[in-house]
Amino acid sequence: MLAADYPRKFEETGSCRNLASGLSSGICDIWRHHILIDDLRAAREAKGWLQRTLADRIGVSAQAVHRLERGIGSTATLEVAMVALDFRLTGVASGKSLAEQLRNQRIRKKTSVAALAKRTGLSPTTIAAVEQGGDSVASLLRILEALAPKAKRRAPERAYWGQGDKDDRDSRFTPDDFMQSVYAAFGEIDLDPCAHPLSPVVAKRKFILEHGDDGLTDHWFGKLAYVNPPFSEQLKWLRRAHEQWRAGNIRTVVCLVPARTDSAWFHETLRVDADVYFLQGRVRFLDTSGRSQPTPFSLMVVVLGASDEQLETFADLIPGFWMRRS
Ligand SMILES: C[S@@+](CC[C@H](N)C(=O)[O-])C[C@H]1O[C@@H](n2cnc3c(N)ncnc32)[C@H](O)[C@@H]1O
Repeated sequence: MLAADYPRKFEETGSCRNLASGLSSGICDIWRHHILIDDLRAAREAKGWLQRTLADRIGVSAQAVHRLERGIGSTATLEVAMVALDFRLTGVASGKSLAEQLRNQRIRKKTSVAALAKRTGLSPTTIAAVEQGGDSVASLLRILEALAPKAKRRAPERAYWGQGDKDDRDSRFTPDDFMQSVYAAFGEIDLDPCAHPLSPVVAKRKFILEHGDDGLTDHWFGKLAYVNPPFSEQLKWLRRAHEQWRAGNIRTVVCLVPARTDSAWFHETLRVDADVYFLQGRVRFLDTSGRSQPTPFSLMVVVLGASDEQLETFADLIPGFWMRRS
């Protein structure tokens, strides 16, 4: 394969007739429309930052950012810009930096430095330098194309759903595969205090807003409540769950919510009484059309009144870790 075949999207400019020399010197902007470069610029713009703003934050000149967004510059500048923009790649092995991700990806693909050098047209020394966080963006992109052509920006973390109006965003249903683990670990659900007619959650009693129920004022009851609340009112629902549990109206409560831990109430009150499970990976909730939606934020399961055995069973079924009540 020719070196020029590697970029998925590029614009050859008059200033760059000799690809090999351009790559080694880093002065060729053949990579200016590589997906990584496009997305990096989009990430800066999404934050409302000028090139100068990013430059000031990472301690380089505005010209360096301008060049970076044309695919020109050092890998070191790219790495610090990625950190500042909270920009990470998915579709490539994990690692603390992009350089480490590329090295791990090469090892995962059982590709030697020599073989990669042959594929990319780069020297083994250049590949070693990129894997150490050095050399040019152009070399790095060339390696990325060879090892992980489908790599793309990881969806940025948000504490809210990105699409739809508030009511739509607050009506995302727990998928049945997740519920199966809840049933297996904690048992049959007596009450879903914030239910929806389209939700697959199985509970003996469901409070449904459209039927005149109100989980925020009606008394809870039974042995087990499962709570996947409207995320726009997460704290209100966690407080309600805690209050109903403290009142002895419900023996055990299992809540699935975004992993937001910034409130004083979480630290001072909930942590004392609740066991909190931080999920590895994200649950895909269902929307009102039955479509599975990726979740753009981390999740935690807040549990009140469960036994050690229940907590252990849950951990055997769902990847994550417990922060036990203190
Ligand atoms: C995120 S959905 C979860 C549905 C279901 N519990 C599940 O896990 O699939 C939250 C639902 O709570 C309902 N809701 C909002 N406020 C409520 C209230 N005060 N009482 C009862 N339900 C409410 C909304 O209609 C919404 O569909």
